[in-house]
Amino acid sequence: MPRVLDGLAAGIGGTPLVRLRRLEEGLGGGELWAKLEWQNASGSVKDRAALSIVRAALAASRIGPERRLLDATSGNTGISYAMLGAVLGFGVTLVLPANASIERKKVLYAYGAELVFTDALEGMERAIETAREMAAREPGRYFHADQYSNPANWRAHFNGTAVEILAQTHGRITHFVAGLGTTGTFVGTARRLRGEKAGVRCIGVIPDSPYHGLEGLKHLPSVHPPAIWDPQLADEIVEVSTEVAQAMVLRLAREEGILAGMSAGATVLATRRIMRRDGPGVYVTVLPDSGLKYLSEPLFALDHELEVRAESPEAPGCAASQPTPRSAPQPTRPRRKRPREESP
Ligand SMILES: Cc1ncc(COP(=O)(O)O)c(C=O)c1O
Repeated sequence: MPRVLDGLAAGIGGTPLVRLRRLEEGLGGGELWAKLEWQNASGSVKDRAALSIVRAALAASRIGPERRLLDATSGNTGISYAMLGAVLGFGVTLVLPANASIERKKVLYAYGAELVFTDALEGMERAIETAREMAAREPGRYFHADQYSNPANWRAHFNGTAVEILAQTHGRITHFVAGLGTTGTFVGTARRLRGEKAGVRCIGVIPDSPYHGLEGLKHLPSVHPPAIWDPQLADEIVEVSTEVAQAMVLRLAREEGILAGMSAGATVLATRRIMRRDGPGVYVTVLPDSGLKYLSEPLFALDHELEVRAESPEAPGCAASQPTPRSAPQPTRPRRKRPREESP
């Protein structure tokens, strides 16, 4: 039965779990399952944390007509806060580095958030510091949501994501794999799974270098670990390079029809490595957002466009720029290199 929602906040959680049958082939008999988190109301896993943070703040009267929600985020959490501010009627101020993508800024603006830009060269750390300073200066005006230390972040996954995964796998889950950003997804889900399913293995995924293109993930060894991070919950941490994660994004799209973001490529790749090593089991990973947010990244460059135009009568732009051939050529698929996956 299609869902009927009393307001968009009710459209958060309850995301589908999908089996990746092609990508599980040849890995030792394990089942590979992916939780499609862009099906949340504003398009990412961060809706869960943002809603939990907002609900806790509303319950404690920390936000309201006079007091805005303030946080540092250039990513999905900002979009979630901004969407919830519009739905539930509170002000949202976001601090972000000036070099955040234009698409991101436009989305936040469209939702009506107030934006404060910090020096691009000083990165996210400066934005976080600025949000802290603003909240300290004007405590009556701002509630500092601070997703890195707010326990409502991981609780969203303890009470939501983990419960859903246990139900969707009928308790069969053997391995849980998630990327680490604020670490809320991993910490909340792993904490619950460990309490309810003896022997479940919980694996965190991080970029293999401080300079990476895996939006949403943090190279934990080189940053201050978030206050909510609990290393005891991780059986292991897998490092993934941007290039191989991007290759997996294309495989997900071309072999499973799933257009996901880069952090999803990283977690699917890491899960496959573990499957190859650990063999049969029920492996669940989280796909935080959709690839539609990253279409201007080099990964999605139309490197085959010219070839498609030259060879396919159905390719966009062909009809206008090319003479109609006497006998219609067979449409050809663009030749493509098979993306390389890092060996285990
Ligand atoms: C695209 C993406 N992937 C992964 C994550 C990591 O999730 P968490 O912050 O719960 O660790 C985030 C967090 O913002 C994200 O935006």
